[in-house]
Amino acid sequence: MDMRFEPARALGGKIDAPADKSISHRAALLGAMASEPVRIENYLHAADTTSTLEAVRALGALVEVRDDTVVVRGTGLREAHEPEGPIDVGNAGTLMRLLPGWLASQEGRSFALDGDESIRRRPVDRIAAPLRQMGAELEAREGRFAPLVVHGSHLRAISFELEVASAQVKSCVLLAGLAADGATTVGEPTRSRDHTERMLLRAGVAVHRNGRHVTVVNADELLLEPLRVPGDPSSAAFLVAAGVLVPGSRLLIGDVGVNWTRTGFLRILRRMQGIVLGDLEQETGELLRDEPVSDLDVAHGALEGTIVEPEEVPLAIDELPLVALLGCFAEGETVVRGAQELRVKESDRIAGVVDGLRGLGADIEATDDGFAVRGGGGLRGGTIDSLGDHRLAMMGAVAGLASREGVEVLGMDAAAVSYPSFVEDLERLCSSR
Ligand code: S3P
Repeated sequence: MDMRFEPARALGGKIDAPADKSISHRAALLGAMASEPVRIENYLHAADTTSTLEAVRALGALVEVRDDTVVVRGTGLREAHEPEGPIDVGNAGTLMRLLPGWLASQEGRSFALDGDESIRRRPVDRIAAPLRQMGAELEAREGRFAPLVVHGSHLRAISFELEVASAQVKSCVLLAGLAADGATTVGEPTRSRDHTERMLLRAGVAVHRNGRHVTVVNADELLLEPLRVPGDPSSAAFLVAAGVLVPGSRLLIGDVGVNWTRTGFLRILRRMQGIVLGDLEQETGELLRDEPVSDLDVAHGALEGTIVEPEEVPLAIDELPLVALLGCFAEGETVVRGAQELRVKESDRIAGVVDGLRGLGADIEATDDGFAVRGGGGLRGGTIDSLGDHRLAMMGAVAGLASREGVEVLGMDAAAVSYPSFVEDLERLCSSR
């Protein structure tokens, strides 16, 4: 579905952020691994997280969806059922990378995972390597792509150093460690989102952090008190960007998750002189169990260019397309470095962002590991292809509101994997001022 976004006059009003995708995936997976039913409030009902509910159903969990609550009655940590056919992860990279961590320890059972065209282009070798070291057997197409077959085995604990910070790979190894012999440690070069660690702590698992290293000790069972999924800071970021870019805007976004490992974009935006107020969690060395939330108060204002350094990248990974968009409107140059990971997201996001924004009039260049934008001129408008990538579709829509002539987004329906009510929410904010 293609959709046109005309230049907006000003955005206003209050809207709650949609539920967090990362935390919803983890809640459903840990729910399936738990020994007692788990109640999840404010679960995200979007294509990606529905794939996770379907996946855990196929593995033997009972899932009941009631209005605002999902109840998962799991199989227990070591009792996933072997499904009849392949598990379809759809477009969900997080499901593709986290689920094998659990399945690898299901001794004597085999599981095939497959997904859509985009999933079939995204490598899974980074999870296969540590899982093999732990004793699992895996087969992937051409050694690194879906379909992926996991043969569950008796696992041994390992110490594993990630070459690139990735919460998905870290989480996969930690989940495998739950049913391995001994204590499993994962080290990452810089910090990435820590939702898995926080939720495991809530589930009674012995999990410790020491600087860049996290250790889990194997567990007999997981037990989770009712969970509430906070609003998604990555989805909220699109509304924040719209508020900052469209002249005259002032809006309030409620219930935004402000775990410090997810608020890198807001710190970058503040450095660009963007006006966004909120009670953000401060960086902590110790492991916390809660997921704090805050309202964000956003207003339009002039922006300055900035440099995003490699160590900031994992903390703003999904919002980097928006940094490029903001860069088009900021005085001076905006540069993102060390973000080669963007090439293996739902699309090649370096190419998608650079070609897409250039087509709307931006002065932007791709580098191997990011991009550089010379800003100040804003955007003329035109047509942008989402490439089937939800974050490019939403970036295009925000670009349209802030542009001089409007933007046509090809494939706007891609937004449904993480934020089904995005267009409706934007329309509400546009009409309430
Ligand atoms: C996610 C981790 C990130 C992020 C993705 C969700 C997660 O991926 O881009 O949207 O929920 O763990 P990487 O871990 O590959 O950087």
